Amino acid sequence: MMSTYQFKTPSVIVNGPGAAKEVGSFAKGLGKKALIVTDTALEKIGLLNDIKNSLEVAGISFAIYDKVVTEPTMDFAEEGLKIFKEVQAEILIAVGGGSPIDAAKGIAALATNPGKMSDFAGANKIPRPGAPLIAIPTTAGTGSEVTQFTIITDTTRDVKMLIASPNIMPKVALVDPLMTLQMPQGITAATGLDALTHSIEAFVSVKAQPITDTLALQAIRIIAGNIRQAWSNGDNIEARTSMMIGALQAGMAFSNSSVALVHGMARPIGAYFHVSHGVSNAALLPTVIEFSIPGNPERYAAIAEAMGEITEGLSVLDAAYFAADAVERLNVDLKVPTLRELGVEEKKFNSVVEQMAADAIASGSPGNNPRKATKEEIVELYRKAFSKE
Ligand SMILES: [Fe+2]
Repeated sequence: MMSTYQFKTPSVIVNGPGAAKEVGSFAKGLGKKALIVTDTALEKIGLLNDIKNSLEVAGISFAIYDKVVTEPTMDFAEEGLKIFKEVQAEILIAVGGGSPIDAAKGIAALATNPGKMSDFAGANKIPRPGAPLIAIPTTAGTGSEVTQFTIITDTTRDVKMLIASPNIMPKVALVDPLMTLQMPQGITAATGLDALTHSIEAFVSVKAQPITDTLALQAIRIIAGNIRQAWSNGDNIEARTSMMIGALQAGMAFSNSSVALVHGMARPIGAYFHVSHGVSNAALLPTVIEFSIPGNPERYAAIAEAMGEITEGLSVLDAAYFAADAVERLNVDLKVPTLRELGVEEKKFNSVVEQMAADAIASGSPGNNPRKATKEEIVELYRKAFSKE
């Protein structure tokens, strides 16, 4: 049966060293006053300087909301909205990792729509276009600069809400590898593995389509081929530039074909144990790949090949299992801590694992997995990932 596919992206994506400095000229077309949403640490290390200069030169006045210091909660979105209204801003400029960009998407939605953040949880629940958003990532990871998703924690229920709507897609993404040079090793690893997970899940998702396939497979190749170099030497501009392009391609891919079981299961780990998003994904990825291979061995064999494994002469199935090995090796090489090492406590884990599985299923992401998982199977996968020393 023939079907049609939709593919959405920001109107403009500028990428390459120096892209962030173009913010002023793009802001000019969107309004007169901006609210910059960021986190205090980035301002301290000087990452905002070029952006502020560019805005000043363009005659855009701005205020700064720099309190997004953890993965965003509903409170951040509401606090940011208050400032957005107080200063009568018309544009949002998000500078940061996934957290400031996700928070800014929440503010964008609240600025033009009645209701509170939790009313928007799920797909297509935001009726009107949000305030215009320019996204400038400082990690090569979330891809949030080009996605129609935001993840905002409802702290009253310990649930990471997945909010999906074209109405929160950034208008402009300025993807500048120079913004990532100061990222420490742990964050380079965690965010890079998040991007790798996006590309792998976009490629195996049951919603994959021809355009996302091209982007996802190429992203896997680029990320697997450059993440060790970017991690070993943060000043390696070529590796940083490649990682930025890989993360961008992965973001465009999963924004349109969705993520799957790994992300569905990772969000509850973040919500209950405050493990960072990238590390939660990395902890689950090898185990979930092994589980999922029977659903689409050819795709996992292609992933192994794209990650640089030698698959020639192997059966499709044997090649497919090399994808799990390749990811496991990355976790070891990049010194990604295991859940145990992060102090996820066994007693608490056992008491919430059933609820985590229920939350994972409720998010909808596991429904895109090439092999469907029952609640019991998800509990089993959590236990396997947790048992790693
Ligand atoms: Fe992610």
